[in-house]
Amino acid sequence: IRVGIIFGGESAEHEISLMSASSIIKVIDKEKFDILKIGITKEGKWHLYFGEVENIENGEWVEKSVPAFISPDPERKFLITLDNGVETRYPVDVFFPVLHGPRGEDGTIQSIFELMNVPYVSCGVTSSALCMDKVFTKKILKHEGLPVADFKVYYKKDLPLTLNTIVREVEEALGFPCFVKPANLGSSIGITKAYNSDQLKDALFLAGEYDTKIIVEKFIPAREIEVSVLGNEDPVASLPGEIIPSNEFYDYTAKYFDGGKSKLLIPAPLAKEETEKVMSLAVKAFKALDCSGMARVDFLYSKLDGIFYINELNTIPGFTKISMYPKLWEISGIPYKELIERLIELAFE
Ligand code: DAL
Ligand code: MG
Repeated sequence: IRVGIIFGGESAEHEISLMSASSIIKVIDKEKFDILKIGITKEGKWHLYFGEVENIENGEWVEKSVPAFISPDPERKFLITLDNGVETRYPVDVFFPVLHGPRGEDGTIQSIFELMNVPYVSCGVTSSALCMDKVFTKKILKHEGLPVADFKVYYKKDLPLTLNTIVREVEEALGFPCFVKPANLGSSIGITKAYNSDQLKDALFLAGEYDTKIIVEKFIPAREIEVSVLGNEDPVASLPGEIIPSNEFYDYTAKYFDGGKSKLLIPAPLAKEETEKVMSLAVKAFKALDCSGMARVDFLYSKLDGIFYINELNTIPGFTKISMYPKLWEISGIPYKELIERLIELAFE
C-alpha cells in the first residue's frame, strides 16, 4: 500500500506538522507500507521529497524536493512531477495528512482527496471544517446538550466601530478574565487571556490578525484534561491525560518551546467515575461532530462546579511520539506503530 504522508502546510502550525510527520515516517512499518513523502511549503506549493527523514524537521526538504501537482480527476489517483517536460506519475492508495490548522485540518485538503476518490486518514470534509471552527464546534455540542463554556462571537470587520459595545457586552456576559481566540486555528496561536477591558481590546485585534471571526470564552478555573478517540462508527476513548501548563495557560510557547516544563500526566489522576465520565463525553462529542478516524477531545474540568466542559476537538492532533494523542493510546493498549496502522485501516473502512 502506497501511503502519501503529507506534511508542512500553510498554517501557523507548519513546524508542528513537520515534527508530527517525521515521527510517523520514522516509525511506520516500511515492509507493509510504501511511503510517499509529500511536503507542502508555507506558500502552499506541493513537493515530493525523496530524501532522508532527518531533513524534514529542519526544513531542508524544501530545497531537496521536486515540485509536484495533483489533479482532482478521479481517474488520476496520483501525484505528478515534471522533469524537463517529462511527466512521472506517483500513484497513492491512501493519504495521511499530518497537517495541523487551516488548510490541512479544516476540510479543505480533505475535499481534494474526496474529488480524487482516494481514502484518507481522519475526519471527512464537514467534520474537519466544523472541528476547526471553535464557534461551530461549540454551537453543535451545545445543541446536543453537551457541556461547553459560555462564549460570544465577534467579527473583525466590526471591531473598529463597536469595540466599546463589545467590551461592555463581554464584561456583563462573561466577565474577566476571559479568553480571546481566532475562531479557526490551533496550537493556541493568537490567543490571549484578557484581564481587563484594555487587554480585551488588544486581544480582539490580535485574534483578528488570524481570523475574521473571533470567539471570546468565559474563563473557567479548571484542570486541562484530554481524551483520544479512535474509530469510525463505533469509536472508542482512551484513558484521559492531564496537562499541567508551565505558563499561565497551555499556550504555544508552553506547548512546544518550553523544554518540556509543561507536564503531561498520563493517565490523568482522576477517580474511576470521573475517568468514565470524561471518556463517555469524549465519544459523545466525537459522534456529535461526525468525526471518523481520530480526534483528541480537550476538556476543562471545572474546579467550580465539577463539570467537564468540552473545549475543542482536534481532528489531526499533535502526533510526535511524545504527543498526548499517541501517548494516551499507548497506555490504553495501542502502541505508536500499531496506532498508525489502525488509522490507515480506518481510512479504508
Ligand atoms: N493543534 C495541535 C497540533 C494539537 O492540538 O495537538
Ligand atoms: Mg488545538
